[in-house]
Amino acid sequence: MSVQIKTLEQYQEAFRKSIENPEAFWAEIADTFTWYQKWHTVVNNDMITPDVRWFDGAKVNITQNCLDRHIPERGNQTALIWEPNEPDAPTQKYTYSELLAEVCKCANALKSLGVQKGDRVCFYMPMVPEVAIGILACARIGAIHSVVFAGFSANALAERIKDAQAKVVLCTDYNRRGPKTIPVKEVVDEAIEMGCDSVSHVLTYRSTGGDVLWDERRDIWWHKLVDVQSTVCAPEIMDAEDPLFVLYTSGSTGKPKGVVHTTAGYMVFTCYTFMNTFQYQDGDIYWCTADVGWVTGHSYILYGPLLAGATTLMFEGVPGYPDTGRFWQVIDKYKVNQFYTAPTAIRALMAAGWDEPDKYDLSSIKVLGSVGEPINEEAWRWYDEKIGRGNSPVIDTWWQTETGGIMISSLPGITDTKPCFAAYPHPGIQPVILDQNGQIITENNVEGLLCIQYPWPGMLRTTYGDHERCRTTYFAPYPGYYFTGDAAKRDEDGRYRIIGRVDDVINVSGHRIGTAEVEDAINQHPEIVESAVIGFPHDIKGQGIYAFVKATHDVTQPEQLRKEILEMVTKYIGPIAKPDIIQFVIQLPKTRSGKIMRRILRKIAENQYDQIGDISTLINPESVEEIKSGAQHPF
Ligand code: WT7
Repeated sequence: MSVQIKTLEQYQEAFRKSIENPEAFWAEIADTFTWYQKWHTVVNNDMITPDVRWFDGAKVNITQNCLDRHIPERGNQTALIWEPNEPDAPTQKYTYSELLAEVCKCANALKSLGVQKGDRVCFYMPMVPEVAIGILACARIGAIHSVVFAGFSANALAERIKDAQAKVVLCTDYNRRGPKTIPVKEVVDEAIEMGCDSVSHVLTYRSTGGDVLWDERRDIWWHKLVDVQSTVCAPEIMDAEDPLFVLYTSGSTGKPKGVVHTTAGYMVFTCYTFMNTFQYQDGDIYWCTADVGWVTGHSYILYGPLLAGATTLMFEGVPGYPDTGRFWQVIDKYKVNQFYTAPTAIRALMAAGWDEPDKYDLSSIKVLGSVGEPINEEAWRWYDEKIGRGNSPVIDTWWQTETGGIMISSLPGITDTKPCFAAYPHPGIQPVILDQNGQIITENNVEGLLCIQYPWPGMLRTTYGDHERCRTTYFAPYPGYYFTGDAAKRDEDGRYRIIGRVDDVINVSGHRIGTAEVEDAINQHPEIVESAVIGFPHDIKGQGIYAFVKATHDVTQPEQLRKEILEMVTKYIGPIAKPDIIQFVIQLPKTRSGKIMRRILRKIAENQYDQIGDISTLINPESVEEIKSGAQHPF
């Protein structure tokens, strides 16, 4: 792979070229893929707008590049390793040839259900190989996949199915996750009952066995339909800008947005960033612990590694089962070379047993990645010393669902690393820091809003069904820039450190949650008038959720109401959005125009009373003392 950066000089040269001549830079990388027809224009616009088009005129299929393209050279190489929840259960391995055959079978099965190019197919599936096969099968035939994290509730799933008007849903019967068994199909049934009229079929993979309800007109077993299909399915010839997938993510207002990524740009970007970030070499075993329900799973369990011809490991289980050595045992078992996980997992495992990793042979590790939230210095050092034995660079990767792939990170062994810093932009990425007025700050040693000033191939193209929302959310706030929603620092040498969101989005254990969504769920309770949900620093989760809640009456039985509120949130979103703290208040601090003063609540939730500042503009300044006196800080 000639476009893989190997030295600091090459990084600097690639970066310089990507700024001086972005079209030539990206064209050279794109040239390493297989195209049915080449592009006539690399990128249509120098300005960053939601109407950007990459590789226009080109024709391509991403699965042809993930699978078929590799067959002559690595048909018998393992593409996918699957490690089950139970350590003593059999593992599964698919070579590139085998994976291609399975993908074709599933693609033919989807076709037999009437799925056509452009149709949406929803996945509510845990971490089994069939989810990977199903996703690639969609891409094979040009159907748009919409994967919903299988921890979301039936309501949340229904909302996403309806928004995308999905024709088929793929799921499993149950899911074994750690010690728990989760009724996956039941949640899908429940969701479809909520008016998902677009769904004609549910394709269920039998993962655990066990009884499930069955609707003969709608339900089909994977083993009955997929297993009998032909192992050959010609890839659909796609335009560069045909949508590849939708992935719902939370913002500061309203319902989750369906972020849309398209075919060619996403392909080029995920492969290039994968090769450089992890410095993958032939024969390496790469493991990303994310769930396929999030963008990390899309880009760096599936597409990036497969495009690069890598061996990618997929893990069904959780870090703490059967014990907190599970991750290290898996690294030892497969001799994993690149390991990619989230700070929340690192912190939890560090807290569970400082020396636990010493029991395993982790000498295969070459690169350690971190993603999803800021990594604190203690976690960084433990990761570096205990897992990397001080000789495997820790690479903090900053990116977002919307960016498609990694934007800012050190490159292992190439650029330097610094604890808590994602550090340097990848070639082709032009980050800037803006001040509150939207003015660019060019000096170093500064802090401000993180924006991107030039298009890159992996950027989102729209929000499903609402292009205007995409424009107003990301491109209108600071014209000429893509607005990330994050604040960042740039140090004296140009390294970036991500501070966190500046909007009403919180990051709980690496899961992105909109405070407005949690408030909406809480407010569904008939005894609740209004609520304000705020993030606060949490030792393990990064951020916890603090809910200030106003009830219709004096709360005499807070425990009961608290329990019901948690049930409400679980029902409307899922357990990941359950508040850690619920405080009942008599009134919320408001401005004269009736707006809740979230800034004050944030300071109370963060236990920074001295920074509450001026409260004279409140219509009810007395509310602040009342809330302070009832505030809780157990974490
Ligand atoms: C938000 C995006 C990137 C894939 C997983 C999350 C935060 C992400 C980092 C990092 C500090 C980070 C940002 C970003 N974030 N990576 N390395 N350091 N913060 O994707 O769910 O779209 O969330 O996660 O706040 O905006 P996502």
